[in-house]
Amino acid sequence: MQIGVSFSQQSEEVPLPRPSGVVDGLAPYDAVSSLDAIRALPAGTVPLKLDWNESAIAPSRQVIEAIQKFLGNTHHLNWYPDLGATRLRTALSAYTGASVDSILVTNGSDDALDLLCKTYLDARDDVLVAWPTYGHFLVFARSRGLEPRRVTVGDPFDVPTAAILKAIGPRTQMVYLASPNNPTGVVVPADDVAMLCRTFPRTLFLVDEAYHEFCGQTAAGLVERHPNLVVTRTFSKCFGIAGLRVGYLIAGPAVMHQLRKLYNPKSVNVLAQVGAQAALADKAFREEYVYEVGQSREFLAAALRARGAEARSTQANFVLVRVREPLRLVQALETVGVFVRDRSHLEGFGGWVRVTVGTLAQMQDLVGRIDVLLQSLPDLLA
Ligand SMILES: Cc1ncc(COP(=O)(O)O)c(C=O)c1O
Repeated sequence: MQIGVSFSQQSEEVPLPRPSGVVDGLAPYDAVSSLDAIRALPAGTVPLKLDWNESAIAPSRQVIEAIQKFLGNTHHLNWYPDLGATRLRTALSAYTGASVDSILVTNGSDDALDLLCKTYLDARDDVLVAWPTYGHFLVFARSRGLEPRRVTVGDPFDVPTAAILKAIGPRTQMVYLASPNNPTGVVVPADDVAMLCRTFPRTLFLVDEAYHEFCGQTAAGLVERHPNLVVTRTFSKCFGIAGLRVGYLIAGPAVMHQLRKLYNPKSVNVLAQVGAQAALADKAFREEYVYEVGQSREFLAAALRARGAEARSTQANFVLVRVREPLRLVQALETVGVFVRDRSHLEGFGGWVRVTVGTLAQMQDLVGRIDVLLQSLPDLLA
């Protein structure tokens, strides 16, 4: 009897396992990474990876040293991690001012968003997002069998509070607000968040503060008073460890009680926990980077404007530039080793390209490369 089946023997008629009804109806999430293009650059070309809003520099030396030291213990990879990342939560409590019990550490803040959607959403729920915003949230909401309602404001750079107030209905289960928002940079003031939470106590307000450190404002202090508020944060931006995948959320006891039903306490890996603790401990490194990004953000926006472009600075680690032919700009920049993100296809955001901001030297280098391109393509920024 033959038991092995080779791939060539599988015909189209063989029935395949059926995915869940919700997943069956979805298109694959299409993430575009520049890493392959960066690896293929000619030797000697220094890449400027400015497309995913990561930190543009390596993390603190202390992160590398802490991981190397940790790996010195031969058992440190064969044992499961510190369950629930207790040590990291204790450090985060000191950093955020929130209690240890109100912090949950996740595999990047993406995982926090996913967990919140899994825990709180059913297919019939109404979910609002202030649009345009971080697209991956839509994927997590869709996995629950619903399509979030996109609330737009006439000018995408206006604060969306009034529009959200108008759009919330009796079935609105969740409202997603990124602050500063990606890609607009818009900040929702904490007072607005408090007012929304007070007015709609049955709705869960999710404030995504991935870029918090670059703007300084936060709604985290409101969590104690508002049981319907969750704030998510990440180590992927100013802490420089996007590759380790660490994020966290801050929420009150009622939300935490629900989240713990599905939360996997061993899902954040050991190296991520050690790296995040070391990154958190190096305050000077973080503060210097955040300060420098603030300076180079203004430098870049001004340099783009000086070259005739419509450019906007933000309170996050990116600058926006609006051009007639965004794809042409993105492709031209790639020819000189610069990778930025075309956001122009987002509804209400026509023409805008997002450029991650790094150090001043990197932004000067970027402007130099743009100047070279402008010699042969003088209307590139028009
Ligand atoms: C608003 C926002 N939230 C979350 C994330 C994802 O962060 P993490 O790397 O922590 O999953 C990003 C990444 O760009 C983002 O822009």
